[in-house]
Amino acid sequence: MHTHRFLVTGGKKLEGQIKVGGSKNAALPIIAASLLTEEPVTLTNVPDIADIATMEHILHFLGVETSMEGNTMKINAKAVANLEIGHELVSKLRASILFLGPLLSRNKEVRLAYPGGCPIGKRPVDVHLMALQELGAEVLEDQDILHLECKQLKGKDFIMSEASVTGTENAIMSAVLAKGETIIRLAACEPHVQDLCNFLNSMGAKIKGVGTHTLQIKGVKKLKGTEYRITSDYLEAGTLVLASAITKGSVDVLDVNPNHLDIFWQKLREVGVVFELGKDMVRVLPSPELKAIRLQTAIFPSFPTDLQAPFATLLTQAKGISFIFETLFDGRLQYLYELQKMGLEPRIINPYQAEITGPTKLMGASVSSCDLRAGAAIVIAALAAEGETEISNIYYIDRGYERLDEKLNSIGASIKRVK
Ligand code: EPU
Repeated sequence: MHTHRFLVTGGKKLEGQIKVGGSKNAALPIIAASLLTEEPVTLTNVPDIADIATMEHILHFLGVETSMEGNTMKINAKAVANLEIGHELVSKLRASILFLGPLLSRNKEVRLAYPGGCPIGKRPVDVHLMALQELGAEVLEDQDILHLECKQLKGKDFIMSEASVTGTENAIMSAVLAKGETIIRLAACEPHVQDLCNFLNSMGAKIKGVGTHTLQIKGVKKLKGTEYRITSDYLEAGTLVLASAITKGSVDVLDVNPNHLDIFWQKLREVGVVFELGKDMVRVLPSPELKAIRLQTAIFPSFPTDLQAPFATLLTQAKGISFIFETLFDGRLQYLYELQKMGLEPRIINPYQAEITGPTKLMGASVSSCDLRAGAAIVIAALAAEGETEISNIYYIDRGYERLDEKLNSIGASIKRVK
């Protein structure tokens, strides 16, 4: 973990144009899915972030060749070693759970330490194991690691016990080369799950129902290499829009797929943010008074949990009492304790629900980024705050946002990265 911090001087209006990068949560499963072919895969628009570098380390450990030049990653999984992926590699990245499906399919065995990741609450793996068992995997009793084996993965019609994003992705990656047909019901269908399906289809997989909660997958014998552009990151897009809105700036956010954010636009309108949607961009304009709203997270296409904290930060500037209901994770209101140091007086009802009264004058303070999205929320708060905010633990922000400081500075923010 590095010791860099951000020093943010607040009160600057953001102005200009900014381009969204490739989606982290699409790139992670797509990199793992590249192990399903012996042929070379080229991925473009891959975000240059710490989580992707960790993913590459794991590929190298398995003997897979990769190269990253700019935002283009080449992967050549001619051979994939059957090795235990230990705690050291896995602990940095919850998404390493995404190797379960591809390795099981490729090597018929996978041994993986229990994954780490952002401290956003309890993050079990029962749904992953259940889905893989439905497809024919045997879960072996190993104390400290996840150990799965199979003779032959076989297609099946089953329902996910929870619409888990990475759980669905593991099921998809196991089903594409399984024997026969699979139907996954209550599949997660976030834009990154859709991108994984589109990527696999470009390799010759047969997945139907992409973008819905029911996926039909016809197993094929082999997948081929491909060249694929990772979809743009709707979570980064939302973050940049919120950063612009809170400073009452005028910013064009480019390379956005507006369809990925339908409910987000609706909530922004409810709050009173002024913006215009284009085909692949959004123009954020200065807003008059903002109004308090109720914000509840749920699976796609409902409001994304990953934008709850950044959005709630905007609500600190809205008139009235906003109600926040985080339904997915029990550790995703922690940022409110940090915003308290900046002058907010939230009413935290329980680990899932809180009330925010606004508008609150935010003041610069010394605060910590407690996870990736909480970190983004605090940066947004710091942009609107009076004076200087010192943000520690920015390691979490670097995990998922490509040079957020430089991007925001390019449209007028003042963020210094210091040791
Ligand atoms: N759940 C279970 N059992 C499981 C798995 C999940 O009960 O075996 C529950 C979780 O506790 C949670 C719900 O299911 O209440 C949804 O969790 P999910 O499994 O969908 O989360 P995830 O797949 O671990 C992905 C994203 C997260 C994002 C969530 C929710 C990736 C790599 N990660 O995590 O992204 O918050 O879906 O949309 O796609 C982030 O980018 O900052 C991030 C944390």
